[in-house]
Formats: sequence, C-alpha cells, structure tokens
Amino acid sequence: MKNRIISPSLLSADFSRLKSQIDLVVDAGANRLHLDVMDGHFVPNFTFGPFIVKAIRKLTNAHLETHLMISNPHNYIQDFIDAGVDTLIFHIEASTDVERDIDLIKKNNVLAGLAINPDTEVNILDKYLDFIDYVLVMSVNPGFGGQGFIESTLKKMEYLANLSEKKNFIIGVDGGVNLSTIDKVYDTGVDVTIVGSGLYKADDVPARFDKLMKKN
Ligand code: DX5
Ligand code: ZN
Repeated sequence: MKNRIISPSLLSADFSRLKSQIDLVVDAGANRLHLDVMDGHFVPNFTFGPFIVKAIRKLTNAHLETHLMISNPHNYIQDFIDAGVDTLIFHIEASTDVERDIDLIKKNNVLAGLAINPDTEVNILDKYLDFIDYVLVMSVNPGFGGQGFIESTLKKMEYLANLSEKKNFIIGVDGGVNLSTIDKVYDTGVDVTIVGSGLYKADDVPARFDKLMKKN
C-alpha cells in the first residue's frame, strides 16, 4: 500500500489569518498545499490570482500545487510560474493547445499537471500521460468547496492508477474527500488527496489531519 499524501486546500482556510492556517497543517505533517485559482468564467466563482500566490510563497516552503480553474490558462501560466509555484495544473477542458501549455510549464522547470472534470472522459488524457507529472481527478464539479463526492469518478482513479505504474505521473483527487470518503479514494491507488472543508472545518485541525492520514 502507498503512503498517504494529503494536500490541504486553502480554499477552506481562514484567509484573515493565513499564515497560522498554513502553519497549522504544515506542523501537522503536510508538506504540500493546494491553491485554487478561479476566474468567474471557467467556474462560477472567484478566488485569487498570481499576486496572492506570490504572497503565499513567502509564507511557506511547502510544495505549492496550484489548480487553475480559468479559461485560456496559456495567458497566465508564466505569471503563476513567476509567482513561485512548484506544480502548475490547468484544466484539459480550458486549454486551446494542451501540448503547448505543458511545454511552457516544463521548460520553466515547474511540474505540469492536467485536471479533468467529472463529466470528461478519462481517456482524453492518454496522449499526454508520457509528458505530464500530475493528473488531478476532479471528484466534484469545480467551483466550490464543501460539495459531495461523485462516486463515478472512482473508476477514473483506478484507470489512471494502473497506467501510472509504468509512467512518471502521480494522481491527485480533488473534491469531497473527507473522513467518510478518503479510504475508498486511496483504495484505488491514487497518490495525493486534496482536502479542504474535511480538514479546515474540523474543530481540531491537527487531530483531523492525523485521522485522515490514519495515524490514529
Ligand atoms: C473545488 C476545488 C477544491 C476544493 C475542495 O473546485 O478545486 O480544491 O477546495 O474542497 P473540499 O475538500 O471541501 O471538497
Ligand atoms: Zn482544487
């Protein structure tokens, strides 16, 4: 069995005390953080852009995986790279030239990820799997934290987990992962779970982190 990796989603953190919210999960053992960028166009919600990512970079050495839920990601990839991200993920549904966008990320020595919506067929990814570092399987429709896990996405995780053994990418799962869903997600063979409300809304966040990691 693989070791669990949890990437806390700051979307559910209290941004008025961001530094302590980051330290809380890093001290609990998280070594990566998930940043959700939304443009009010690709998804019906807004969050933040490269300016805030750059500020977060100054607050932590944790690996920053940045999930772009934006139309025309190509126009902003360089800005997010310059902001200091470690993995940059864009949606296959949003890009007009997936190969070009992967190349742009990789030539800057940043890890490249592709995200896929619940309604998108998983085999659309096949031709890119030799070139990317990360696949983000959306298990909710992107846009908001706190939504229910879509069970049909488990099949995509299994499909990708089978392929990832021979290739060089890891698999993340994003949306609705919490104490009641996390075991079946890891049973598929994925590497990383993104947990937002299932972690930050707990009364005792470090204790919840341990529980999700199956440390107690
Ligand atoms: C949803 C975002 C997720 C979100 C997950 O569009 O991409 O990263 O923060 O939140 P939870 O864990 O609450 O479903
Ligand atoms: Zn996300």
